[in-house]
Amino acid sequence: MSRSHLVSISLAIVLALSGCGKSEKKAADLDAAMGPAAKADVADATPPQKVKSLGDSVPTDVPLGLPPLPVPNGPPPTDKLVHLGRRLFYEGNIAADGITSCGSCHTYDHAFAETRQVALGFSSTRGDRNTPSLLNVAYWTSLNWDGSVQTPDPGLGLLEAQVRFPLEDPAQMATKVDSVEKSLNISDQYHMLMTKTYGKNVPVKYALATRAIAAFERTLLSGNSPFDRYFFGHDENAISSAAIRGWEIFKDPKKGNCIACHAVGEKFGLFTDNEFHNTGVGLDSTGEGHDLGRFRVTNRPADKGAFRTPSLRNVALTPPYMHNGSLRSLRGVVDFYSEGGGQNPYLDPQIKKLNLSEKDRDDLVSFLNTLTGPMPVNTGHPTPQEEAADAVEDDATEKPATPEAATPASGTTAPSAPVEKPSPFTKKDQKKDAKKDDKAEKKQP
Ligand code: HEC
Ligand code: HEC
Repeated sequence: MSRSHLVSISLAIVLALSGCGKSEKKAADLDAAMGPAAKADVADATPPQKVKSLGDSVPTDVPLGLPPLPVPNGPPPTDKLVHLGRRLFYEGNIAADGITSCGSCHTYDHAFAETRQVALGFSSTRGDRNTPSLLNVAYWTSLNWDGSVQTPDPGLGLLEAQVRFPLEDPAQMATKVDSVEKSLNISDQYHMLMTKTYGKNVPVKYALATRAIAAFERTLLSGNSPFDRYFFGHDENAISSAAIRGWEIFKDPKKGNCIACHAVGEKFGLFTDNEFHNTGVGLDSTGEGHDLGRFRVTNRPADKGAFRTPSLRNVALTPPYMHNGSLRSLRGVVDFYSEGGGQNPYLDPQIKKLNLSEKDRDDLVSFLNTLTGPMPVNTGHPTPQEEAADAVEDDATEKPATPEAATPASGTTAPSAPVEKPSPFTKKDQKKDAKKDDKAEKKQP
């Protein structure tokens, strides 16, 4: 294991410890070591949502088949803000284990969902629920399977408000908001990235980090699928005749009736009504079960077993299915609906036995397979080159690229790119950690 890896893990442990009562002293040490930056509290003169980010505004045009992008009030997102968000999204060092990042569960290779039945987070804790895809997440009017995140941060959006849930969930990243703020403060690299994004003299704030993560999430758009080209683009040849038959079943109230909840409009379609319905997944015949979904939020008996209708865009890329990941294939889902869902007293009246033929079921699956669009660009794990560029001061990188600058004068050496992948928690942190290690060693009997 490399030294920098060890350093980040020990730092992570310090951060994790600083969250619990026993180690208040350690947290105090950390505060003292960091000086005034750590002391500045949330009530700064400028509310975080009013702080402008540097860089160019990001375009808000959307792929074919998607509605106009809802962007919350506040300063418009910029390329620098989105880039910072992308770095933070894949940053394991902010979690208690120093490894788990948003991108560990919301994996790029699986349309920002994952293939596990339920999520596995901090020290391999199994969560209750399957990780949903984050593609097109900007459009949801509540977040999580049960809509438990439904109040936006003041002046910002739901996505900003959502970030603290995975961070603080003991089964996910198991840390605390103030620990994240501290770890960003003591990281040379994130200090620099925050400065590049928000300008000098803006204190490194958790709220500014969440704005960046949310801005990145709003770029996770996917449309322009073969179905979009067929239906919204009027390209008759974009999908197969089996898929066209599947689409007819999907929207026919007397056949599939899927569109009753997985809504599609004339000009665009999100394949969800953003509402909660009981389809009977994970419930016994009396309507009881381990996860009662929306009921957990509202306490209304009628909401027992109801979950937010997931979008079906890119659904072929995100098995297993349903809130508990209990159905392994699209064919399994179609069979489930065809049999009338899971019978229970709270079952949604729109769910009925469908008696679909084998061919109908195959056609429905063919249709669902046409909902896969291209992945959004620049949303995967940042490359080592991108990370290295982040570690260079902006002034140096933004000098005009004149031919003279490109060919260094004889006798000077061109600055070479760092060879090793830079650790996000460098210099200052290493020194601090070394001190901590010394102290720990001294305490040993
Ligand atoms: C351990 C795996 C794991 C990690 C790490 C994780 N998530 Fe999630 N995420 C989930 C699961 C599981 C859900 C569904 C939770 C629920 O319904 O209660 C979810 C839900 C979400 C949602 C709501 C999506 C929707 O359709 O409603 C968003 C947004 C999200 N996560 C973003 C993030 C961000 C940002 C991070 C990092 C700060 C993160 N997640 C870290 C597993 C994870
Ligand atoms: C009454 C509303 C409703 C109707 C009608 C409906 N669905 Fe759903 N669908 C949902 C809800 C709610 C879920 C999530 C259920 C859960 O996780 O417990 C879901 C989940 C799914 C999933 C899994 C998606 C994922 O990411 O896990 C697929 C696929 C799906 N439905 C396809 C269909 C098809 C095909 C039809 C028509 C045969 C249909 N649905 C009819 C509400 C509905």
